[in-house]
Amino acid sequence: MTENRLFLRNVACAALLSALGACTDEEDAYGNSPPDAGTGGLSTTVPVLTPEAGAPLLEAGAGAGPVDAGPSIGNPHPMTPPAAAGLPCDIERLLRARCGTCHGKTPSFGAPMALTSLMDLQAQAATDPRRKVHELVKARINTQNQPMPPPGSTPLTEAERSALNGWLERGVPAGDETCAAPDGGSEPPVAGGEVDVSGLECHKFVAHAEGSKSAKYKVGAAVDEYINMAFAAGWQGVRYGAVMRPVVDNTQAIHHWLVYEEPATDGSIEPGIGQHPNGKLVAGWAPGGPIYDFRKFGDVGLELHGTSYVLELHYNSSDANAEDASGIEICLSKSTPKNIVTYSWLGYDNWLLAGDLEGPRTTWTGTCVPASREPIHILYVTPHMHLAGRHLRSIINEPGGGTRPLHDAAFAFEYQSAYEKNELLMPGETITTTCTFSEPKSFGQGTNDEMCYLFTYAYPKGALTDNGLWGTFAHGEGVCLGQ
Ligand code: HEC
Repeated sequence: MTENRLFLRNVACAALLSALGACTDEEDAYGNSPPDAGTGGLSTTVPVLTPEAGAPLLEAGAGAGPVDAGPSIGNPHPMTPPAAAGLPCDIERLLRARCGTCHGKTPSFGAPMALTSLMDLQAQAATDPRRKVHELVKARINTQNQPMPPPGSTPLTEAERSALNGWLERGVPAGDETCAAPDGGSEPPVAGGEVDVSGLECHKFVAHAEGSKSAKYKVGAAVDEYINMAFAAGWQGVRYGAVMRPVVDNTQAIHHWLVYEEPATDGSIEPGIGQHPNGKLVAGWAPGGPIYDFRKFGDVGLELHGTSYVLELHYNSSDANAEDASGIEICLSKSTPKNIVTYSWLGYDNWLLAGDLEGPRTTWTGTCVPASREPIHILYVTPHMHLAGRHLRSIINEPGGGTRPLHDAAFAFEYQSAYEKNELLMPGETITTTCTFSEPKSFGQGTNDEMCYLFTYAYPKGALTDNGLWGTFAHGEGVCLGQ
């Protein structure tokens, strides 16, 4: 559990010290990019504002109805007259839209406090009684070290950041207007809206009790607990995924999850440390992350093998009785789609040299030069590093010397999620991926070693590869790691 201790230390550093101007050596290491918000780099699907979103996904649990978090997220402080909050209306709206998924009236996904009233912001911080919540807000919205909102969530635009900064600098004055009742301006859903999966064959991989897939998993009290649950695919041979959607059950306990295709025994439940040397990352979700819906892109489906999958759940819970049935639902098309999506490993790794030739570095870079000469459609990306990962930027290099961003966003191990893209890579174009770490790191499998991958879903099948010798040897098909 070294990784968890490291994470907690970093969190403490971010929350307590960066406000005081400490930790700046780390911040400098993240480098050269301005805060992510507003660059358009974080092009997550902006979730549809449906208060009940996610509710139909919740039937997984043994007979339990939808958790009440859905409605309470979608219906902020229904009993409070708007003026009583005392927040200026623009600030109230902004906090609800950008922070409310986690810092709602009842905080979720591990957030320590609500951010829904002036009193909430004037209160002492839960993690440091010497500081006010608004002081920590100021620190966390202006840093790349554990930024808020966290990676995976819709970031603040520059206009929102400066409105919030201006108000914080004025000493958080109360609003002098009466805000209109929230008119559909509800908090965003925890899982990118709703989709219709009728006509598809769906399989759920959700958290469950030892020995019974229909009983919920007993989470209990947990601090950064990682649990691996293994599932046999439930289908034979190769099938095509049309939709992969998050199932979000206990919003007070689940923090994020990842799904790997990995050899494993169906039904096994084991503690994890967030590392999967034999696995391929298939999907990821953090609060606010998108539903993977390949039908958006036409007659398109993701190639999925009838092997086994490991769901890695990350929990934080203060409730000794907490139970959960969160996970993923994979819905397969009944026919073979015209365009078959496979995923590729972009980024950098070096199994041969284990990174030691150049010594540990804070920045790793790899360029993917596709062997294919056909246009390649890039649909989703999932950045993946370990605990020291802080930022991932992927740039498309055009043959004429121009560039355009594919992905450019802060990264946090605790908030790994997918990002929807709709990018057409033209023949002759290449992709340079740069990972930034909080301290110099080497590639490897140890808890302190790092990784730098941008898992990229693209079609035509197998087009996004450079057939690099070492990458292919280590990872199989779909490698474009620039070796
Ligand atoms: C996806 C969920 C999520 C969203 C969205 C989010 N937060 Fe957080 N926030 C957390 C979690 C979890 C923590 C506790 C862990 C940590 O400090 O990183 C936290 C901690 C904080 C803290 C530190 C509190 C303390 O006492 O240490 C501040 C300040 C904060 N968030 C402000 C914000 C603001 C402001 C926004 C919106 C602009 C926001 N957060 C959006 C999940 C979220």
